[in-house]
Amino acid sequence: MIQIDVEKCTGCKACELDCPGRAIQVIEGKARSVKKCILCGHCVAICPQSAVSIPEYDMEDVEEYNPQTFHLDPAQYLHAVKFRRSIRNFTDEPIARDKIERILNAGRYTATAKNDQDCRFIFVQDHLEQFRNLVWQEMPQVLESLQHTDRSWHYLFSRFYERYQKDPGNDTLLFNCTSFLVIAADNPLDGALAASNIENMAVAEGAGALYSGYMMRMISESPVLREWLQLENKQLACCMLLGYPRKMYRRTAPRRKADIIWK
Ligand SMILES: Cc1cc2nc3c(=O)[nH]c(=O)nc-3n(C[C@H](O)[C@H](O)[C@H](O)COP(=O)(O)O)c2cc1C
Repeated sequence: MIQIDVEKCTGCKACELDCPGRAIQVIEGKARSVKKCILCGHCVAICPQSAVSIPEYDMEDVEEYNPQTFHLDPAQYLHAVKFRRSIRNFTDEPIARDKIERILNAGRYTATAKNDQDCRFIFVQDHLEQFRNLVWQEMPQVLESLQHTDRSWHYLFSRFYERYQKDPGNDTLLFNCTSFLVIAADNPLDGALAASNIENMAVAEGAGALYSGYMMRMISESPVLREWLQLENKQLACCMLLGYPRKMYRRTAPRRKADIIWK
């Protein structure tokens, strides 16, 4: 629930006017929570007196707005989006824990439908080798099931498996990443949006990522992998390989002209 410090509240109505669910009202000069809401936190964020809090949330992580330090340069931002590349060759250096926490925070603070905050981030780093072995161990069963259901994925994964069997260093599913992230969510769009911010934050930390449709398919086909990852009843929203890129790109990669309808 929302908590209002009546000593601090001046009844300015900033919270009432910004509340998307009309769940907060100023009554007799003080803000009151009048019905259940989605706990979006706008009331916390807008209050000039810092009079509102949501005790069940991580209130210590709330940051004050400072016009001196808050500046997101549009040209730099677009430059960063254009420079981001899919990374398929990583150095051996694992991403340090403090960086991982900041990277995952970019996902945690991403918008979710109805403010559900329904994303689960399964970050595999300490047990990556165990996971890698399990993935390849699962391949024969996955191939068996794909043979009857999806010939093109069966063909693709058969080639991957042949390569891996010849040389286990040739892993076309996890490459040589140092960590693997699965985002599970009740609403897959929430997970996909979080993934995009996570990727950008990874780049800001000097690391890089590869979205993996291959791993999505692999996990979808394997109850053993789902269980190991503790997806429970959540939907698989995104799989990402992470680590430090071994290569530097000299320029941005080109794209088609934008497909925009201006009306
Ligand atoms: C949802 C999604 C799934 C992807 N799956 C794979 C994959 O399984 N394997 C792979 O090598 N690349 C994968 N990619 C990377 C794309 O091939 C890549 O984004 C595209 O070629 C453009 O290159 P760039 O990301 O460097 O701009 C995936 C990208 C997205 C967005």
